[in-house]
Amino acid sequence: METMENVMVMDHPLIQHKISKLRDEKTGTNEFRRLVSEIAMLMGFEALRDLPTEDVEIQTPIEKCMTPMIAGKKMAIVPILRAGLGMVDGVLSLVPSAKVGHIGLYRDPETHEPQEYYCKLPEPIEQRTILVVDPMLATGGSGSDAIKMIKEHGGKKIKFMCIIAAPEGLKRLHEDHPDVQIYVGALDRELNENAYICPGLGDAGDRIFGTK
Ligand code: PRP
Ligand code: URA
Repeated sequence: METMENVMVMDHPLIQHKISKLRDEKTGTNEFRRLVSEIAMLMGFEALRDLPTEDVEIQTPIEKCMTPMIAGKKMAIVPILRAGLGMVDGVLSLVPSAKVGHIGLYRDPETHEPQEYYCKLPEPIEQRTILVVDPMLATGGSGSDAIKMIKEHGGKKIKFMCIIAAPEGLKRLHEDHPDVQIYVGALDRELNENAYICPGLGDAGDRIFGTK
């Protein structure tokens, strides 16, 4: 795939190692959840590199100084339900004061088109850096619709972070929202006839929540 502006595919060995463990069908719910959270934290570290800071006055044992701290109230994490929920804690461990919105979408099993069932975003959304999280970017329909909904609510500075992407979904998301920075843990080969990512990890929501 050609290099795309605003798209970063992570190549850190720790992230790759943990994603390989996620893919393993023998990895059970407990470990799967823990890995998703750890990967979200490691990826979030990179995705939030340009988070705004503000200088605050600190008294060190030696003297007073002005020194940068995260302007945490300016950030929002928005998981796409359900599977995105698994990534929230990892990012919150980096920015505990971030607000959390929720967007509910599920893929119609026949058409694979996203169906909206919930949207609640922190206000005022337009002033915040918004990190949308979902482990899987398959056709790109859910991610693209979620970002459209956030933009309709006034969101401007939007980032999207997924653990595994298919080339088809990455292309679609980038074409629909070229202004959005996209962070991908691993870029897989293709979608199969059921719009599942190959090799992928199966159904992320089912593996996180132990459903099927
Ligand atoms: C999965 C996943 C994404 C979506 C990706 O959710 O978590 O939201 O599919 O597919 P797409 O890129 O083709 O839209 P799913 O619809 O299975 O819902 P769930 O998280 O509630 O299980
Ligand atoms: N949703 C998933 O959870 N996995 C896929 O491979 C595609 C969509």
